[in-house]
Amino acid sequence: MRIEIPREVERFGPIMFHDVQKVYELDAGLRFAKNEGQENSTIVRLSQESINGIEEKMVIVVPVMEERIKLIEGVLCGIPNDCLTIVVSNSPREPIDRFYIEKDAIEHAARFMNKDILVFHQKDPLLAKACQASGYKYILDKQNSVMDGKAEGMILGTMLANLTGRKYIGFIDSDNFFPGAVLEYVKEYCAGFCLAKSRYSMVRISWHSKPKIVQSNLFFAKRGRASEHTNRILNSLISTYTGYGTEIIKTGNAGEHAMSMDLAAKLDFSSGYSIEPYHYINMLERFGGISGNPEKDVLKNRIELFQIESRNPHLHEVKGDIHVQDMSRAAMEVIYRSPICPESLKEEILDDLYNRKLLKSGEKLPETLSYYPAICNADLKKFAKTLENHEYAKFFKASTIKKVKNETPGLIREKIEGNVEHLPDQDKVLEMK
Ligand code: GDD
Repeated sequence: MRIEIPREVERFGPIMFHDVQKVYELDAGLRFAKNEGQENSTIVRLSQESINGIEEKMVIVVPVMEERIKLIEGVLCGIPNDCLTIVVSNSPREPIDRFYIEKDAIEHAARFMNKDILVFHQKDPLLAKACQASGYKYILDKQNSVMDGKAEGMILGTMLANLTGRKYIGFIDSDNFFPGAVLEYVKEYCAGFCLAKSRYSMVRISWHSKPKIVQSNLFFAKRGRASEHTNRILNSLISTYTGYGTEIIKTGNAGEHAMSMDLAAKLDFSSGYSIEPYHYINMLERFGGISGNPEKDVLKNRIELFQIESRNPHLHEVKGDIHVQDMSRAAMEVIYRSPICPESLKEEILDDLYNRKLLKSGEKLPETLSYYPAICNADLKKFAKTLENHEYAKFFKASTIKKVKNETPGLIREKIEGNVEHLPDQDKVLEMK
């Protein structure tokens, strides 16, 4: 791959937000053909071997809920063979067992692909038992079953991925029409990790375009309908603390994203579709230095966030206006509810929601979200033990199963809550820069 270096970098305490990077060539050849890792001062060349070196250490988690089998198969065929694929489904089991059909179809396709794919249902009682055993009961409902939601499925996927001993985890939605786009996203995750110097890193895909039909013609829209609002508000939040306007964040809602396992284990989650914007919020809450002291290891190593612009158009199943509105409201809510969100920004968020008629004028923002602590709060040894005689276990790497060190256990937002009257504390953030 040939990729430009980021033009701008916004530093926030130990977090480095890199500007969107453009890809000039998807495949830039083998290592020995030309110099690896350098081209000129602004373009980096990454060979197929370097990209593949990361693929071998990566798990791709594919969340599924009631998608067409043909779509899922297309997505799986786009994931490079060396990645370990985990499919987490929340499809209904009654009156027709959709999950059974999915699992059967995926495992059949996997034989032709000669690919390792773990397929499981989010509500497998065994997983709920493993969560209980590990002390991670937060995603269980009153019936002790894992709750519905994309984030809840992603949390299980992250725990299982962690137990495989692989170093990176990426997420790819299962409703993508283009297998080629899926392949590209994974390669771009790998490119980001090749460029990362820190063990705490995240790569988010910024779609080049999202095609739609307008007056019988194809129109390649630059951003999704929810993203532009989420990005603007996240950028305003950063500006509040740094004192400088910024447009650095362009991937507030990115469903396609990947993380080093070291970072994935330390980030808290929020429910449903608010999870992607919450990554930004939680990184700022937990490591931004606004309140409390970030972990020493993170301070030393820093966190690097890459945003890479893909070349393929992003075409996925259209789920309607109400769905997009719910997703956008959830993104706004997760920023609004953050203890680091200043009053002025809360007003801006409400105005935005009133203007878009996502809230009635004067209406309060209903509380719809739940928050879950990072998986480093779970005892993964006990989680693995519960699953030891089941199909999950063949993917685990026993030697790597350990409790992740966490200097601030529990939900960080609860710890900040009591401290909010001191916010915003710009000087403290700037001091750390
Ligand atoms: N396991 C699981 N559990 N998967 C789920 C669930 C669930 O409860 N709900 C949805 N999914 C799966 C879907 O099957 C799909 O593959 C993926 O999660 C994304 O869900 P969609 O409902 O298709 O979301 P979207 O395409 O509108 O939005 C996507 O893009 C946004 C950015 O524009 C999502 O990835 C959003 O999270 C993202 O913000």
